[in-house]
Amino acid sequence: MAPAKLLVDIHTHVYLPRYASMLRTRTSVPKIMSSLIDGKEQDRLLILDHEPSGGRPVGPQYWSRDEKIRFMDQHGISVSVVSTANPWLDFLPASQAQQLALELNADLEQYCSTGPTVTDSSIKRLYGFGLLPLVPEITTESLLDAVNQISESPHLKGLILGTRGLGKGLDDEALDPVWAAIEAAGLVAFLHPHYGVDVKAWGDKDNGHVLPLALGFPFETTTAATRLILSGVFDRFPNLRLLLAHSGGALPQLSSRLASCIDHDPVVASRLKHDARFYLGKLYLDAVAYGSEELGFVSEVLSRADRYETGNSSAVSPDRKIGSKRVLFGTDHPFFPPLKSTEKWQSVVDNLEAIDSVQGWTEEEKDGVRGANALSLFNIS
Ligand code: URA
Ligand code: ZN
Repeated sequence: MAPAKLLVDIHTHVYLPRYASMLRTRTSVPKIMSSLIDGKEQDRLLILDHEPSGGRPVGPQYWSRDEKIRFMDQHGISVSVVSTANPWLDFLPASQAQQLALELNADLEQYCSTGPTVTDSSIKRLYGFGLLPLVPEITTESLLDAVNQISESPHLKGLILGTRGLGKGLDDEALDPVWAAIEAAGLVAFLHPHYGVDVKAWGDKDNGHVLPLALGFPFETTTAATRLILSGVFDRFPNLRLLLAHSGGALPQLSSRLASCIDHDPVVASRLKHDARFYLGKLYLDAVAYGSEELGFVSEVLSRADRYETGNSSAVSPDRKIGSKRVLFGTDHPFFPPLKSTEKWQSVVDNLEAIDSVQGWTEEEKDGVRGANALSLFNIS
């Protein structure tokens, strides 16, 4: 039995020691390099192609399990579903990606299984999302081997994936056997951005990381998820469980516009079984939105899906409650650390306060978003 009211973090990252060591051997991005800053050696992480100001400081909070637990304790987080941070294996040749995926999945299973347990329960404090070797020229068999390995790892509850697929994006039909295997295994596919959008969109002013992180990341997720919907993935795999990072980016805001554009495009309209808004109700979104109005809004958008189910003539009025069940607390740790040392991370406090202040959510719904939804989605008990 799960103790009541656990806080569960479903968006929290790690660079496992094996992955961090690989990044240290590299001379091109992504890499970890040592720099002399104010006379002191400091590790810096460079993962984006146009990384401003020599990358970001990186330390044990990115790889140490003790640091993860310390962070969880500091913020009252009972359980974390940990995922490798971007850019995963995207930049590796197929043979290396395949081997590293299997090794990292085994490492993550061990990271979770040998970790602590929630007091007075059999629930572990750490679960994980595994990795697939999603790179060009990988064989379908290698991808299915990794899905199978994850599904047989008791503490791995899903897999994290970027937007590139095998090089042609996630709407590539070559991925159909992979979606089928993920669906059949009941794993959750966590879609997370890395590439943003064309840097030319950001102009030439130095705005640090702000534009790529605040806009580029969510726009990338928005595009990838929309392409998946347009490809008919949810018609072919209706039980696929897809979790979108950063509350689905701009997709909830744009979903009626998307539906209208589809309606005006006979080629696409004839390909899909339902109105675009129906598919929104199939998604799960993290609650990494930093604002209560945004959380209330996305839950309302998710909840109206059945109004758009083809053949369902009884219009059901939107009830945020239904939508809130698909929204799950996350921190994005160890990204967005406080600039000055503080007891709690502002980014975490903001996301918790946002959940607490959503107009129209009952305490039960808030508890759901804080943890109960995750326990049920990932079948943790
Ligand atoms: N920056 C990243 O590169 N990844 C995240 O998940 C968050 C911030
Ligand atoms: Zn993240």
